[in-house]
Amino acid sequence: MKTTLATLLMLIGALGAAAADSGNSSCITCHALLEEPKLVNPAKLFDSDIHHQAGLTCADCHGGDPNDESMSAMSRTKGFRGVPKKARIPDFCARCHSDIAYMHRFNPKMRADQLSQYLTSVHGKRLKQGDTKVAACVDCHGIHNILAVSDTRAPVYPANVASTCAHCHADAAYMKDYQIPTDQVAQYQKSVHAQMLAQGDVSAPTCTTCHGNHGATPPGVSSVANVCGTCHVVFAQLFEKSPHQAAFARMGLPGCVQCHSNHEIVKPSDEWVGVGANSVCSTCHASGDPGYRSAQAMAQDLARLNLAIVRADTNLDTAERKGMEVSSAKVELTNAHEARVKARVNVHTFRDEEVRKITDQGLEIATRSDQAGVAAIEELNFRRKGLGISLITILVAIAGLYLKIRQIESRQKG
Ligand code: HEC
Ligand code: HEC
Ligand code: HEC
Ligand code: HEC
Ligand code: HEC
Ligand code: HEC
Ligand code: HEC
Ligand code: HEC
Ligand code: HEC
Repeated sequence: MKTTLATLLMLIGALGAAAADSGNSSCITCHALLEEPKLVNPAKLFDSDIHHQAGLTCADCHGGDPNDESMSAMSRTKGFRGVPKKARIPDFCARCHSDIAYMHRFNPKMRADQLSQYLTSVHGKRLKQGDTKVAACVDCHGIHNILAVSDTRAPVYPANVASTCAHCHADAAYMKDYQIPTDQVAQYQKSVHAQMLAQGDVSAPTCTTCHGNHGATPPGVSSVANVCGTCHVVFAQLFEKSPHQAAFARMGLPGCVQCHSNHEIVKPSDEWVGVGANSVCSTCHASGDPGYRSAQAMAQDLARLNLAIVRADTNLDTAERKGMEVSSAKVELTNAHEARVKARVNVHTFRDEEVRKITDQGLEIATRSDQAGVAAIEELNFRRKGLGISLITILVAIAGLYLKIRQIESRQKG
């Protein structure tokens, strides 16, 4: 009996110590017992919050005395700050997050520039002017259940970012006072980028990759419209050297985004080049001008290469299905496929001779592979013919033998 009581006492002691270690406090104990949702929810949610896990309590943000179990825990004389107004939230969070020495005690790699970055964004600038409809820290990170940014459930985790922005940017009623569209999220969801991200390719951009996490644009990018080149490096280099660079700059046009759009970026096709109904070139170039001629020539060269590849593919497949050995020709044909990819990149020189250099190489390879396929099929036909002839010869020989035997047999009978 005595021992059980001692064990129980020890257990209670251990529980108390564990609670203190994980950042428990009078604030949580009392708030967990309250009824009003806005008072009890913070205490309920706080378990999974990164601040709780780092050993911080309610008082580290709100002030007050976490050891006082009465209402005086929240007295101003004990440093209680209360609840910050929206306009004050960035400073409220930055009291710690801009203090690099303090933050590095918890995580030596933690950045401490969120507030200074945030103040350069449209959100930050407008909040300073008193517009409280913009996003402040808690609109993107949550309150009382703030998760590590690497947590897949965090609202700022790449796969969740678009829906976090959508809370405001896809809500036409909420955004009605502003002059901007509310279709960015819907358009982005249709893009190649969103599809790749949904398939787990984290190298594809979400909203904040292009617009910056806190600042208006990511580092090293002078305008959001120039962000494409941080990933599509070769395309940007070719565009820089193309006749469009200077012409677009003069006309105040944005570059990549002019032809590809900014949010609904879809997989382009060869039909975009040339002068047909789906051409992007003929939105600006008209019959007779040098741009139009160049577009027409590129389209023809790309079409020629496509046709040669299709033909070679078909013949090599036929030969392979019939059991002929064409694997080396098939391997070579992948070089023609690669040339086609490269030619599509070279479209961004907007010079037909640059595209033709590559398509000509591809054509040569495709033609050679095609010839190998055709030769294999011909050889097969030849072998079949040969086999037929030898079969007939053998049959004739057997028939001759049979007749000979019959002849001998009837002669013996006779
Ligand atoms: C004995 C119970 C009790 C303790 C201990 C307690 N609170 Fe409260 N708290 C309440 C009640 C009840 C209210 C609502 C009444 C009010 O606003 O004064 C409240 C309100 C709040 C509010 C909202 C104030 C506002 O202006 O809307 C905050 C923030 C808060 N508490 C934080 C804390 C923190 C931080 C601690 C610990 C340092 C703490 N509480 C300790 C009972 C408690
Ligand atoms: C990381 C900082 C931080 C921590 C830790 C924190 N809070 Fe808060 N709390 C805030 C901010 C910021 C707001 C204001 C959010 C807003 O207005 O959108 C807030 C709001 C509140 C409110 C008012 C809610 C409302 O709907 O009006 C209460 C009550 C509250 N906190 C209690 C607590 C309690 C209890 C704890 C501990 C369990 C706690 N907070 C821990 C930052 C924090
Ligand atoms: C518009 C949405 C948005 C706002 C507003 C915002 N953040 Fe962030 N925050 C993000 C995103 C997105 C990340 C990066 C997530 C990742 O790395 O995958 C991030 C990352 C962080 C990090 C992790 C370290 C880092 O810098 O990458 C901290 C800390 C942070 N934010 C604090 C804040 C604070 C403090 C504020 C207010 C001054 C704030 N955030 C405002 C979206 C936002
Ligand atoms: C009392 C100081 C303090 C305040 C105030 C504070 N934080 Fe923190 N915050 C921290 C500490 C400490 C960590 C944990 C660092 C670690 O362990 O990696 C952290 C972590 C975070 C993280 C996770 C960063 C990561 O690397 O994944 C985010 C996001 C964050 N805080 C946002 C906020 C927001 C939003 C506010 C304001 C509502 C806020 N913090 C207020 C101290 C604070
Ligand atoms: C709490 C609501 C809210 C959230 C959440 C929010 N925003 Fe905003 N955002 C606004 C408001 C309001 C404006 C101001 C619009 C204006 O002035 O034209 C704005 C402005 C912007 C602008 C500048 C638009 C312009 O005028 O050129 C960009 C870019 C932007 N937000 C991107 C984002 C991204 C990316 C996210 C998600 C990571 C996000 N926002 C989350 C409310 C929000
Ligand atoms: C691939 C890069 C990229 C991605 C991803 C992206 N944006 Fe944009 N966004 C841009 C560019 C470029 C502009 C045009 C900026 C300019 O004209 O200066 C823009 C403009 C905007 C604007 C200003 C209003 C408008 O429509 O022109 C808002 C708001 C905005 N984006 C929000 C978002 C949101 C929310 C997401 C995620 C759903 C997102 N963006 C994803 C590149 C991107
Ligand atoms: C963070 C890196 C990143 C940024 C920034 C970025 N992209 Fe992408 N983009 C990708 C990835 C990854 C893919 C999918 C893989 C691929 O096809 O290259 C892709 C695919 C594409 C495709 C489709 C290619 C295809 O063959 O299907 C186009 C077109 C495209 N991006 C244009 C743009 C434009 C225009 C911008 C700027 C507004 C931009 N991207 C910004 C990474 C990025
Ligand atoms: C004047 C219009 C125009 C501009 C400006 C432009 N592109 Fe393109 N882009 C095209 C066309 C047309 C295609 C389709 C080529 C094809 O499939 O034959 C294309 C295709 C692409 C592809 C897919 C290539 C593939 O393998 O299918 C990517 C990625 C791309 N562009 C990125 C960019 C980037 C990044 C920029 C800015 C540096 C840019 N583009 C500027 C017209 C343009
Ligand atoms: C947004 C309008 C626009 C689009 C779309 C566009 N161009 Fe251009 N292009 C121009 C302008 C403007 C010039 C400069 C004309 C000048 O300086 O006289 C130009 C110049 C050229 C030139 C140089 C002409 C010369 O005089 O040497 C070529 C070649 C060209 N474009 C090809 C293309 C091709 C191919 C496409 C489609 C893939 C295309 N352009 C799409 C606007 C456009």
